[in-house]
Amino acid sequence: MPPVTLTVNEKQRTTEVESRTLLVELLRDHLDLTGTHVGCDTSQCGACTVLVDGRSVKSCTILAVDVAGSEVTTIEGIAGPGELHPMQAAFKEHHGLQCGFCTPGMVMGALDLAARSADPSEAEVREWLEGNLCRCTGYHNIVLAVQEGARAMGGAS
Ligand code: FES
Ligand code: FES
Repeated sequence: MPPVTLTVNEKQRTTEVESRTLLVELLRDHLDLTGTHVGCDTSQCGACTVLVDGRSVKSCTILAVDVAGSEVTTIEGIAGPGELHPMQAAFKEHHGLQCGFCTPGMVMGALDLAARSADPSEAEVREWLEGNLCRCTGYHNIVLAVQEGARAMGGAS
């Protein structure tokens, strides 16, 4: 098995994976970063969303070997221990979750949107997150949280 080297949450990691190993499997099974969830086997739910070189990607749709040399950010890497990233704080403030299973993917997708738009409209948020499914909420509070989080970030990534 060839070793794959990539940067995950600002740390360089090298691990041996099979050529068929998915990025989400590398993160969860090899690096113990279990905040990235698997909610489907059809690439529809978005629970596995991470950032690859700053862009949100469903990590169940990409092979680990294809991200060699890339910078990957997972939900564990966006804030220090005991801290909340402004986007996470906005989800908490607006009760943008119930069971929380979809939340890491929602937050990671929202970070990509926030880097592109510092003040996204409701329609923009709903369209952007159409690939992130929540089985618990009516999306209303999630949309409010993403808008508030994006404003708090002020266009920062
Ligand atoms: S696990 Fe559902 S889209 Fe990746
Ligand atoms: S909060 Fe439960 S799936 Fe979204």
